[in-house]
Amino acid sequence: MPEFCGIELDHPVINASGTYDAIAARRIFGDALLADFPFSAFVSKTITPEPRAGNAPRRIWETPAGMINSIGLPNKGLDGFLAEDLPQLAQLPVPLIVSVMATNREEFSRLVREVGERDEVAALELNVSCPNVHSGLIVGEQPTETEALLEALRPLTEKPLIVKLTPNVANPEAVAVAAEEGGADAVSLINTLKASAIDPATGEPAIAAGHGGLSGPAVRPIALQQLRAVRAAVELPLVGMGGIASGADALEFLASGAAVVAVGTESFRDPRAGARIANDLETAVSRSPSRVEALHLE
Ligand SMILES: Cc1cc2nc3c(=O)[nH]c(=O)nc-3n(C[C@H](O)[C@H](O)[C@H](O)COP(=O)(O)O)c2cc1C
Repeated sequence: MPEFCGIELDHPVINASGTYDAIAARRIFGDALLADFPFSAFVSKTITPEPRAGNAPRRIWETPAGMINSIGLPNKGLDGFLAEDLPQLAQLPVPLIVSVMATNREEFSRLVREVGERDEVAALELNVSCPNVHSGLIVGEQPTETEALLEALRPLTEKPLIVKLTPNVANPEAVAVAAEEGGADAVSLINTLKASAIDPATGEPAIAAGHGGLSGPAVRPIALQQLRAVRAAVELPLVGMGGIASGADALEFLASGAAVVAVGTESFRDPRAGARIANDLETAVSRSPSRVEALHLE
């Protein structure tokens, strides 16, 4: 049974934040979802201190082997999340990881303190692909900003802190090292890659915001390369993601040093993808037991 930051998982496949709405899935599939949940832990959509409506449509555009999204983090805000969503997510039969984001240290601190003190929460993921309103810099693009943020947040909770890296930098490993030095417990990667498309029908940007983030199989080789670079630079456990759509894809990430893999875009095509990939992994491992030891999948 894999262990991740002290959390026991039934298998090494979790979801990528923002790509699986467990509350909607429960409404549709009822208690059958709880009996056979597709992931070994659930990562929430990123929440922010205040409610957000998200961006105007169109917010999603299909591309060859992937999609561009600019959803704009619609969410109920911290208070709405704690009052309405957390009680429902706590009913899931797997550990809960809550993804949080803010644009200044004080607000980030409030999120980490208030989410971290809830017994229902096993760990927090810090989405650092956001600007610091004081410096104007994207926190996760700057090692110094990332380290300073972690140093401020680390004392506020004993729960594991996972830093989600952006791939939109020359050296993600430098940011991973900063996260490690600041006291992070794990690093997850990759978030989406900056991307644009033009709608041939209008000649205008296909996404209303003008650009968005690319995900899906198109990004997988980039994700793997970044994972390998980060693996070589830090000791922390890694969550690998980016275009995983099959057990074979997941094995690539595990063989490159991920402790756990996350499935994102593929869940839009196949809501059972997490369970399918976990099964495929189990089969692959039973066919090649030497791999079991190498990948710690027992
Ligand atoms: C529609 C959509 C919404 C997303 N929302 C979030 C989010 O709220 N927070 C976050 O950290 N990442 C978010 N992501 C990024 C994913 O968690 C993941 O890092 C990325 O999509 C790469 O994995 P994939 O190729 O398997 O989708 C989102 C991705 C998509 C496609």
